[in-house]
Amino acid sequence: MTRTTGFLTPARLGRLELPHHLVMAPLTRNRAEADGTPSPLMATHYAQRAGAGLIIGEASTPNPVGQTYPNITAIHTDRHVAGWRRVTEAVRAGGGRMFLQLQHGGRVSHPQTTGLTPVAPSSVPLPETIFTPRGRLPAVTPREMTADDIRATAADFAAAARRAVDAGFEGVEVHSANGHLLHQFLAGNTNRRTDGYGGPVERRVRFTAEVTEAVADAIGADRVGVRISPGNTVNGIEEDDTDVLYPALVARLRGLDLAYLHLVHADPDTAVYRRIRADWPGVLIGNPVLPGLTTEAVTRAATEMLSAGADLVALGRPFLANPDLVTRLRLGAPLNPVRDRYLMYTGGATGYTDYPALDDQPSSPAGPSSSSMVALDGPRVA
Ligand SMILES: Cc1cc2nc3c(=O)[nH]c(=O)nc-3n(C[C@H](O)[C@H](O)[C@H](O)COP(=O)(O)O)c2cc1C
Repeated sequence: MTRTTGFLTPARLGRLELPHHLVMAPLTRNRAEADGTPSPLMATHYAQRAGAGLIIGEASTPNPVGQTYPNITAIHTDRHVAGWRRVTEAVRAGGGRMFLQLQHGGRVSHPQTTGLTPVAPSSVPLPETIFTPRGRLPAVTPREMTADDIRATAADFAAAARRAVDAGFEGVEVHSANGHLLHQFLAGNTNRRTDGYGGPVERRVRFTAEVTEAVADAIGADRVGVRISPGNTVNGIEEDDTDVLYPALVARLRGLDLAYLHLVHADPDTAVYRRIRADWPGVLIGNPVLPGLTTEAVTRAATEMLSAGADLVALGRPFLANPDLVTRLRLGAPLNPVRDRYLMYTGGATGYTDYPALDDQPSSPAGPSSSSMVALDGPRVA
């Protein structure tokens, strides 16, 4: 029986017509080549998920010092563009459309990975170990960014956005969430600056706003989204003024006519969600807090997200484990469970391109090969 759930009806994102309201959230999977070029396997993975209304491609670094972990993707050389073009062409051939998330890790980075000292708003190290090619190591103290670094980094985001469009993406998502560089500027515990980029909320939101403006100037505002995660404590973030910080950011962004604002863990029961929805005039993508990974739980969460005023619903793990997620939700068919967490970041096809679709023969879950077991405790959620 086919369901007529509201989120499965057609939707619109600027000039893009979407077949339904479900967006694949960005999912870092560490399957790129050593220099950050997307591998052919990645084209297979994304093409399998072309049924998403929109795919937001995983965090991709706009410059070498912004790289978080080994084998994450990058978008600052011609070779990166060629690798990503393979991915966007495969997705387009499957009837899909893609944005790319641009992410600078800031202090979430390590010289063992990049050969460079990480940079951040202030010299406050990540209070955790960090995944490197030599396993988990203590984080190093980042170098405080100068005014020139700030300008150059915004320009790197803009150049990366141009390259993303060259590579066939419909647009880019500026990653200002989950404790990475832009979020480090937003949060008081990681931003101790006393210049025009630190102190009151109006100054802490400035870097995200300027990066977004630079990217919008480069490729057009209707091709640019921004991802935020109010209150998220991942990667050592502590916000003590979430309820005023994000309204200040929305006030800076709302006049830009962006493609969308994307909220991680969007919870309609919070004051900050209601305030952002009320203040944001454009498309809001809500990534709901899922009560479980079953068909019923995902259906309920997506329905409630739209009832709470979101325009589109982003899902991460359901798309990770179900290449044909939309078909399954339409049919009310069961979802594949997410296999071992460590397969998320280990490289290789196991736990990546071998999740079966409904019409595949169920394959017996192959154990990881010894060469894929390099990261028993992979990086934190990007
Ligand atoms: C394996 C994995 C990789 C992720 N990579 C990213 C990423 O690159 N960028 C990002 O903003 N969030 C990333 N996230 C967070 C997801 O986009 C999403 O917000 C989170 O999984 C919650 O949604 P879900 O409950 O639908 O999975 C990642 C999450 C997982 C599980």
